[in-house]
Amino acid sequence: MILDRALVRLLPAVPRPVVRSISSRYIAGPELSDASATVRALNAQGKLATVDVLGEEITNEEETHVIARAYEDVLAEIGRRHLDSNISVKPTALGLELDFALCRRNLERLVHRARVRGNFVRIDMEDATTTDATLTLYRELRNAGFDELGIVLQASLKRTISDVDAVSDLRPNVRLCKGIYLESPDIQFRDFHDVQKSFVSTLEALFDVGCYVGIATHDDWLIDQTKRIIGERSLSPDAYEFQMLLGVRAALGNALVEDGHRLRIYVPFGSHWYEYSLRRLQENPSIAGYIASDTLGRFLHLRRNGSA
Ligand code: FDA
Repeated sequence: MILDRALVRLLPAVPRPVVRSISSRYIAGPELSDASATVRALNAQGKLATVDVLGEEITNEEETHVIARAYEDVLAEIGRRHLDSNISVKPTALGLELDFALCRRNLERLVHRARVRGNFVRIDMEDATTTDATLTLYRELRNAGFDELGIVLQASLKRTISDVDAVSDLRPNVRLCKGIYLESPDIQFRDFHDVQKSFVSTLEALFDVGCYVGIATHDDWLIDQTKRIIGERSLSPDAYEFQMLLGVRAALGNALVEDGHRLRIYVPFGSHWYEYSLRRLQENPSIAGYIASDTLGRFLHLRRNGSA
């Protein structure tokens, strides 16, 4: 455990090939064809998907168009192959930090493409400096008639319960997650149990106002609480879905599907895999074991080939 925590801090110093090898299970691969094959395999197991194009940090308008075009290709591929998948997009990748209007234009075009194909766009939620602008973006597009659009709320933020109130008139389709970004303790619950409590009360509040909720967690206790809440409310399986990340707790996901719940898997792909991989590895409770076995595996491989 102590070793795990120490390694999480040291991860950026771990050589890229090692990070790449131990994080490969979190990413479909570098190409759209890799994402397509992964989604097809998930669909065959009765799981839905949402595809995320991994991009690098955006510095100019043209880069936002490259990302937007990559997502248009994803939507086309989903349609062509009859895959059961939507897409998840990061507002900053579409230019949120460069120019709000540019981001809105890019997103509107994507949602329009999704609508034409009978699909749906989820706006991922990024760090707290983007929350207001992301919710404004969502409201503006919904007011313009784009209903094939959903948001994400982060239970670790203290503001989230009032955000439910603020968006409730739109009856949004919401992914609820704990939140990956480390924020100031003024605005974020830091205690594990406070985050869990906030998750449960936010979920209840979302169901109270009739939202469709994607419950995005691998936390056993939260999954049990969700099952309790949907049981108490007699919600049918089409009123919610569970969501998990590719490569995380697949057996738990299989059990949810066997129990008759919808499950959607987040499928990232692309050549810019490094930052996403670091985030996933930092959340992996047995990171030390993975790094040790990968390093040992490489060492033995080198020995076998007479290079060490
Ligand atoms: P927690 O981190 O406590 O994990 C619970 C258990 O799951 C762990 O004890 C471990 O067993 C297992 N586990 C979790 N991560 C693992 C890993 N990487 N490797 C191996 N085991 C692991 N965040 C955000 O800020 N904005 C967003 O838009 C999204 N979007 C999103 C979509 C989907 C589909 C998911 C599942 C998650 C997100 N997140 C997110 C990330 C989310 O906020 C959160 O950081 C992670 O889901 C981890 O939180 P858990 O609820 O799983 O609990």
